[in-house]
Parts: sequence; C-alpha cells; structure tokens
Amino acid sequence: MSKSETKLFRAAAAAETVHAHSHLKQLGGIKTTKENLEAAISGETHEFKEMYPQMIRDAEEEGHKGALRSFNFANDVEKIHAGLYQKALDNLGNNADTDYYVCDICGYTAEGEAPEQCPVCKAKKQMFQKID
Ligand SMILES: [Fe+2]
Ligand SMILES: [Fe+2]
Repeated sequence: MSKSETKLFRAAAAAETVHAHSHLKQLGGIKTTKENLEAAISGETHEFKEMYPQMIRDAEEEGHKGALRSFNFANDVEKIHAGLYQKALDNLGNNADTDYYVCDICGYTAEGEAPEQCPVCKAKKQMFQKID
C-alpha cells in the first residue's frame, strides 16, 4: 500500500471516529468520567471473563491458530485495560499526568514507559508506539 493510500484510510478512520462519537453522544452514551470509567471496566471485564474465553474455545475447536493467537493477545490485554481503568477510577480527580505506550503486535498497553519486552507477546521495545 502506498503512503497516500495509508493516509486516506487513516483520514477516513478519523472521520468515522468523529461520527461514532457524535452518534454515541446522541444516544446518551457519554456521561461523567466516573460513569464512563465504570462502563469501561464492565465492558473489559465482560470481554476477558466471557467473550474472549468463548472465542478462544471456538478457535481451538476449529484449529484456527491465527485466530487463537489474536484472541489470546486481546484477552490478556483486556485484563490490563480493566486494571488501568480501575486505577484511574480509584484516583479520580488525582490521576498523575502519565504517558501510555501500545504494542503494535498485541495491543499491550503500558503506563509510564514502554517495557524492554512486551509481557504479552514478547515484542521488543521498538514495537511500542507512544499515545499522544
Ligand atoms: Fe480493552
Ligand atoms: Fe505485545
């Protein structure tokens, strides 16, 4: 894919995010930060307790190794997200300004600094992107 095609997809993705936020706002889905954090914890918890475990079992049954790997990565990372949200909720109003880094391979999300090696997929530090 050329650079301009990549940019076009990114531009469209940014525009779709604007639409999604607008639709969500109209649905009353954007509330206080406390409520948003509680909803995020609940959503992530559902994903790693029920949704991904079932998808992992299905991928195992079907012998789909790629899907199994992808679902296992996501399942592990949703637990991390729930923990990060919980921490933010526990310190609501007093959260320190911190940086976040995301692993390009598995989505592992690190607070503060990128690790030397991803704890979920073992990718090296260079595979992490800083979130602005
Ligand atoms: Fe998540
Ligand atoms: Fe990773």
